[in-house]
Amino acid sequence: MIRVSAPGKLMLFGEHSVVYGGSCIVTSLDHRYVVELKEIRNEKIVIETPESRLVKILYEIKLSQVLNNTKYERPISFVQAALKSFCLQYGPIKKGLRISTNGPIASYGLGSSSAITVATIYALVNAFGINCSKREIFDLSYRAVIDVQGESSGFDVASAVFGGTIYYKNHGKIIENVQISSMPIVLAFTGNKVSTISYIQYVSALKNRQRHIINGVFDLIDQVVYQAKINIVEQNWWVVGELANICQGLLDSIGVNTMQILAPVYAARENGAWGAKLSGAGGGDCIFAIVDKPHRHQVENAIKKTGAEILAINVDADGVKLI
Ligand code: MEV
Repeated sequence: MIRVSAPGKLMLFGEHSVVYGGSCIVTSLDHRYVVELKEIRNEKIVIETPESRLVKILYEIKLSQVLNNTKYERPISFVQAALKSFCLQYGPIKKGLRISTNGPIASYGLGSSSAITVATIYALVNAFGINCSKREIFDLSYRAVIDVQGESSGFDVASAVFGGTIYYKNHGKIIENVQISSMPIVLAFTGNKVSTISYIQYVSALKNRQRHIINGVFDLIDQVVYQAKINIVEQNWWVVGELANICQGLLDSIGVNTMQILAPVYAARENGAWGAKLSGAGGGDCIFAIVDKPHRHQVENAIKKTGAEILAINVDADGVKLI
């Protein structure tokens, strides 16, 4: 049996502009997803996920159907797309397999789909003894995610593959490790999980209407990302906080903020955080604050009072690995 785990992710800087080839900084999270893969005698692939276990349904695909699959079923879509991407590269699978996925019950919008996709590809590659670089794992996984979602910058896939904290640009043409020893961060879930794709579409429509202005905003976000990269490496955390505030303002200008985001962001700032912003597509999901030790407790309490949930999850986690 092969067992693989891949990390979730936290977008730090660069959301939305990264969809158009801009840059971002993302850190991997110790909020891990597991894929188990076992050979079985039947000529089919049996897929089991936490959701399928709840409704007591086992999904089955005939081996001959893996490559023909174009209609993916919601709870297993990323596994199906990963299987297809693998077969497009290495040819049809000839042995029956049972694939089980597992992970934290609450995903908080922290990258479960990309982590499951990457872990499935990595498990397949290992099960069939294929010598494959992390770059190839990224390419195969990114193709699978695009196949399901239609649009994605791929930064979350890179985070699940490479782990650590990375600077990501131009749909993965540039992926660089950003060295950090620790990060003074408080992470919180707003309570509202959003559909990333609907926010990508919303921003895309705005960009079509206000092309020059939104391109200008994205250029500024790119400059923020570049400065954040330098200051994260140099551990100038108050500057990183200030850049978080600027980025939050730029994201407000493209209309992805909500009161559920603003309440914990302002609570953090008003209680001594160096800076705070949303993380991800907007609309909800998570926020983070950059906070020094003396203010941490006060900031966490203030965030909790807004109804958001503090998440005790470590950043800069390992990329995909056998366990
Ligand atoms: C979502 O976490 C971040 C977006 O930039 C989408 C993406 O990069 O694929 C909004």
